[in-house]
Amino acid sequence: MRRKLAAGNWKMNGSIPALDMIGALKLKHPECPCDVLLCPPAPLLTHALQNTAGSPIFIGAQDCHAEEKGAFTGDHAAAMIAEIGATYVIVGHSERREGYGETDAQVAAKARAAQAAGLTAIVCIGESLQQREAEEALDVIKAQLAGSVPDGSSGETLVVAYEPIWAIGTGKIPTMDQIAEVHALMRSELQARFGDEADSIRLLYGGSVKPDNATEIFALNDVDGALVGGASLRAEDFSPIIEALARS
Ligand code: 13P
Repeated sequence: MRRKLAAGNWKMNGSIPALDMIGALKLKHPECPCDVLLCPPAPLLTHALQNTAGSPIFIGAQDCHAEEKGAFTGDHAAAMIAEIGATYVIVGHSERREGYGETDAQVAAKARAAQAAGLTAIVCIGESLQQREAEEALDVIKAQLAGSVPDGSSGETLVVAYEPIWAIGTGKIPTMDQIAEVHALMRSELQARFGDEADSIRLLYGGSVKPDNATEIFALNDVDGALVGGASLRAEDFSPIIEALARS
């Protein structure tokens, strides 16, 4: 049985006072049947971990370097993220693929480094609007999944997030059939590669998840949670999404 996951990606937003929302989440969800994760910007990770003390809320980073250490100004190693007590790291977000030219091979190397450091890698994949309109979405997903997920991954060390680029921050989401189709494809591709272990790998949907569409999305087969951007910044928005997941 896969434990559902409500993950928040703060991107380059937030502040130390904004982390107070963790206190509100702790109060609202003391015994949540699903996992709750927040990924604030790296400078806030230590504060975030202090705020989650004594609660089941997990903290993760938004990126890591593929190398263990070295002359990589501005980057951080997976082991450093693990050392402070964070447990997840997002890799291959489309904003990094697009903004920094990260390739599938680089994303796989980052995921491998994360797993080697004891972190769970959240590998993001998703098609552009042009690819969706050209009916290439499924081929793109297959290729990104094959290229970005490291060998030897397991339900403990890997989460995959399907985030169609055109749905991120736009208020637009795919149809429920489209989400279901992609998630079924991801599950079957992972089964072909990892056998029964694939059944324990959590698959998240991301892209304009809001309190008013979460219930519908979480009812779909093979949607094990969400990677939420804007609506994870405030407890008032994230909490109803967590509740919808807990009910699903
Ligand atoms: P939004 O929920 O703001 O669309 O962002 C989704 C996302 O990119 C999460 O990683």
